Amino acid sequence: MNIGIIVYSKTGNTLQVAERIKVALELQGNTVSVKRFQAETSGETSNTPLQLTASPDPNVYDAVIFGAPVQAFSLDPAMAMYLRQIGTIRSMPAMCFITQHFKKPWMGGNRAMKQLLMLLKSRSVTAVPMGVVNWSSEQRDAQIEFISRKCAEALKENRA
Ligand SMILES: Cc1cc2nc3c(=O)[nH]c(=O)nc-3n(C[C@H](O)[C@H](O)[C@H](O)COP(=O)(O)O)c2cc1C
Repeated sequence: MNIGIIVYSKTGNTLQVAERIKVALELQGNTVSVKRFQAETSGETSNTPLQLTASPDPNVYDAVIFGAPVQAFSLDPAMAMYLRQIGTIRSMPAMCFITQHFKKPWMGGNRAMKQLLMLLKSRSVTAVPMGVVNWSSEQRDAQIEFISRKCAEALKENRA
């Protein structure tokens, strides 16, 4: 399968998770592209996106995985902007994951995941949540491993 992993990543954490998922999916014989976009803001201290650096097209893939960080206990607004501005997303297997700083998913991760799923739903995409990575947790590596394996298994089922 030709799989796209589309991430908004400001400081690189979400991108790192995407790269790990990519390795797991490639081991299954898939072709995987990681597409990162960032956002231009009004200044270094601003976290409000004005414009995205890229707008990757999910429709060129057989399956797509969306990844985004938490910002202020919510889904980062750059990912919300991306999903609102891209055109129609055709029907295909879709998954998503979230990264956050704090150790507990209720400190923003769960809410961000819910928002991401809702936004995708509003674009007629029913995505499957793969998990939240708590960056400051001792479990971080295990969480990334778990998400990578879960993505690989979900896609194997889709192929069968
Ligand atoms: C402005 C701002 C607000 C943030 N708010 C939260 C938060 O509410 N909860 C949390 O756990 N992490 C929060 N974070 C941390 C990021 O979600 C976390 O570092 C994430 O992994 C960053 O992903 P990235 O490196 O791909 O940009 C915040 C980061 C920034 C810059």
